[in-house]
Amino acid sequence: MLDVSPNQQPELRPAYPIRTERLLLRPLTVGDVDALLAYRSRPDVCRYVPFDPMDRQLISERLAGHWATVALTDEGQGLTLGIELARTGELVGDVVLFWHSREHRGGEIGYVLNPDVAGHGYATEAAHALLRLGFDELGLHRIVARIDERNDASVKVARRLGMRQEARLVQNELFKGEWSTELDFAMLAEEWPAHRDRFADGRQHRDTDDSIIEAPAVP
Ligand SMILES: CC(C)(COP(=O)(O)OP(=O)(O)OC[C@H]1O[C@@H](n2cnc3c(N)ncnc32)[C@H](O)[C@@H]1OP(=O)(O)O)[C@@H](O)C(=O)NCCC(=O)NCCS
Repeated sequence: MLDVSPNQQPELRPAYPIRTERLLLRPLTVGDVDALLAYRSRPDVCRYVPFDPMDRQLISERLAGHWATVALTDEGQGLTLGIELARTGELVGDVVLFWHSREHRGGEIGYVLNPDVAGHGYATEAAHALLRLGFDELGLHRIVARIDERNDASVKVARRLGMRQEARLVQNELFKGEWSTELDFAMLAEEWPAHRDRFADGRQHRDTDDSIIEAPAVP
């Protein structure tokens, strides 16, 4: 819960699972190794993210390490949560909320989805839940997403969430052997209420051009 009174430091201790229309977000466990390996070992999934294809051992090490975090208690921490389909219990991806600064109340989101279930809005739905955690429960002032310009699918997620593109950093990083142009998206706490209920009915959402896109029936 959000608590920013002078005597109490804000922190985020969600009650799990976090439920959305079609998903459950929850901490990863050792039982998720195979599901994580299914997508985190794929070169196409890792093309624009700051990690290389992972093997079973690395995933197990992560699970015993910082992926075991279940709460954000201070700046510099990241909370990684698994995306589970509520209907089947299948783990299909993961999202991360970083708490960058206590003073500036700044955070960042990231998301990775198994390509087998792409195109259903699950990543957007999960990332939307992260924005809610960051703004409504941790009391962040500003949340960003930093995306390689070539990563069209990720750019679309940020836009669909209602995040504002603020910067285009031309060839600012030598990323996996190539110059990467970074797009910086952001949302402020004061902008969040306009987007909080965007997916509330689970049937439709507005894209950046404000046209209503009908969501297909749940597969
Ligand atoms: C980035 C990534 C998570 C996006 O996955 P995605 O499946 O395209 O995104 P979503 O789950 O939000 O699905 C969006 C698509 O589902 C459609 N959709 C269907 N039902 C929907 C609904 N109810 N709500 C929203 N979108 C819906 C959208 O129209 C959109 O289709 P489009 O791509 O044809 O425009 C995925 O490509 C990925 O994991 N990439 C590798 C890792 C990565 O690069 N992560 C980002 C690093 S910055």
